[in-house]
Amino acid sequence: MNFVIHVEFVCLGNICRSPMAEAVFTNLVEREHLLEHFIIRSSGTSDYHVGERPHPGTQEILRQMNVPLNPEKRSRHFDHAAKAHIDYIIAMDQKNVADIQSVHGNVHRLLEFAAQAETLDVPDPYYVGGFDVVYQLVADGCLGLLDHIKRAERLS
Ligand code: 4NP
Repeated sequence: MNFVIHVEFVCLGNICRSPMAEAVFTNLVEREHLLEHFIIRSSGTSDYHVGERPHPGTQEILRQMNVPLNPEKRSRHFDHAAKAHIDYIIAMDQKNVADIQSVHGNVHRLLEFAAQAETLDVPDPYYVGGFDVVYQLVADGCLGLLDHIKRAERLS
C-alpha cells in the first residue's frame, strides 16, 4: 500500500468542531499504526478565525479526554480549488455541506458514520457551549469513519 488517503474535516470557523475531529481521528489512526497512509487536516468554510488556535473549549475537552492536539494547529480557510483532490471531505453539518458545493461525491457529514447519533449535524458550540456533547458525537463519528475507510480502502 503506497497511496495516501486525504481526509479533511470541515466546519464553519475551524476553531471548535473540525479541529476536535482532526485531533480525535488522528489519535485513532495513530493507535492503529496507520498514520503513514493518511493526510488528516481540518478547515473552515469561513475565514473569520484564520490563524487562530482552537477554541479553549475544544482544547479543554481534548485535554480531559487525553487526546493530543497538534501544537501547530491554526484555523485555515477551506480551499475550494483543491477540493477535488481530497478523498474524504467530512463536514460537521448540512450548512457546511452546502457551502462546500463539491460535485465530486466526496462530501459526507461526520455523523453519517456514527453508530447511534440522533442527528446528522454536530451542533455548533461556539455561542452555546456543550463541548462535552460535541466531543461524544465527534468521537462516535470518528470511530465509524475510520471503520468505513479501512473497509473501503482495504486497509489493516
Ligand atoms: P466551528 O464553530 O464552526 O465549530 O469552529 C464556530 C466558530 C466560529 C463561529 C461560528 C462557529 N463564528 O461565528 O465566528
